[in-house]
Amino acid sequence: MIPQVGIELFKELGINRGRLLDPYCGSGSSFIVGLDRRLSEMDGCDINPLAVLIARAKFTKIDIESLENMKQRLRSDVYEFSKNEENFTSLKTPDYTNIHFWFSKEVLLKLTILRNFIDLVKDDDIKRFFWVPLSETIRECSWTRSNEYKLFRMKPEELLNFNPDVFDVYFYKLNKCLDIYKYAYLPLLIENQAKINVEDRAFEIKDENYDIVLTSPPYGDSATTVAYGQFSMFANEWMGMKNARRLDRMMMGGQTISNKYLSGLIAEPIMRIHSESPKRALEVSSFYFDLENSIRDVAASVRRGGIAIYIVGNRRVKDVQLPTDQFIAEKFEQNGFKHLFTYERLLGNKVIPSRNSPTNKAGQASSTMTREYIVASQKIM
Ligand SMILES: C[S@@+](CC[C@H](N)C(=O)[O-])C[C@H]1O[C@@H](n2cnc3c(N)ncnc32)[C@H](O)[C@@H]1O
Repeated sequence: MIPQVGIELFKELGINRGRLLDPYCGSGSSFIVGLDRRLSEMDGCDINPLAVLIARAKFTKIDIESLENMKQRLRSDVYEFSKNEENFTSLKTPDYTNIHFWFSKEVLLKLTILRNFIDLVKDDDIKRFFWVPLSETIRECSWTRSNEYKLFRMKPEELLNFNPDVFDVYFYKLNKCLDIYKYAYLPLLIENQAKINVEDRAFEIKDENYDIVLTSPPYGDSATTVAYGQFSMFANEWMGMKNARRLDRMMMGGQTISNKYLSGLIAEPIMRIHSESPKRALEVSSFYFDLENSIRDVAASVRRGGIAIYIVGNRRVKDVQLPTDQFIAEKFEQNGFKHLFTYERLLGNKVIPSRNSPTNKAGQASSTMTREYIVASQKIM
């Protein structure tokens, strides 16, 4: 979700105060919207610890001078330590499953050095900030292909020429993060005294607590759409998160159930998928059951008169288009809301393939999502 869309919507709906919720907040685009529109309190949840780490880093006010000083110190500590190989014997490199399949020895050593010195930082806000470029460096210096959400190892011939300078990569990224923070986020945080609270868990009901919900939920289960869990697995593992390898299964639609979703307007497309593949129909159903339960909890957490805005894509499975936008409008209506509008927006630069093969047969492709839907509903009961 790009914040500009949310900002325009808020203007159109006259939203400029109140408490905001994003139950699938990722790294927090909706908080930029809230800050721009001067909302006072914002809560977000996401099941992915890396997303939460990034959101917290972006939306926590840190003294920029301390941040710059600590960066210089981190830099000199890391390079000083690395001059003497004897120091390396005291290091404990991580040893999770298959680590040597994904990282060269040298990369592992350098990432470990960085992690050690970052962990020594006493100020928790600064430490978290330093982890953001480390999480990117971990992925970028691993042997994963860079243009995929899922984890695929580079080809053997690519491995031979892959020799990243981990410290260079890290400090380049750290400088970039610092600039973005200094010029984009910090001014917003200084201008508005909003309270932003982000939790690393699934959303739990909070009766009539929010005036506005702005979110872009997943548009399908992670395993077959955007594999958020795999994408962030290394970073979460390096941070010591115990569920790092289970995230995709913990996300919406991650657990396949044994009954199909057979009510309302989603029943018909699910039956069409069932005629091609009963297994896929169950996988898709599990996503809609989860989305329905989540909408029920979110709806109960909104005050009367409050507005919920969901931004989604309508995916295709077995060449059947799934009307997720209509499903969302329907479920809010069943939970005391009236549908205000659904806008359609063409997508410009999304990192998703614009064609895929629904049959997995070469040459048989159908177009995937090229537009997103903005569904707005208002609580009337
Ligand atoms: C489309 S992304 C949201 C992106 C977000 N708007 C941003 O600015 O980064 C959907 C998010 O839902 C999260 N997610 C998936 N299942 C979840 C669940 N059951 N509870 C909370 N978050 C979940 C994923 O980790 C992912 O970050």
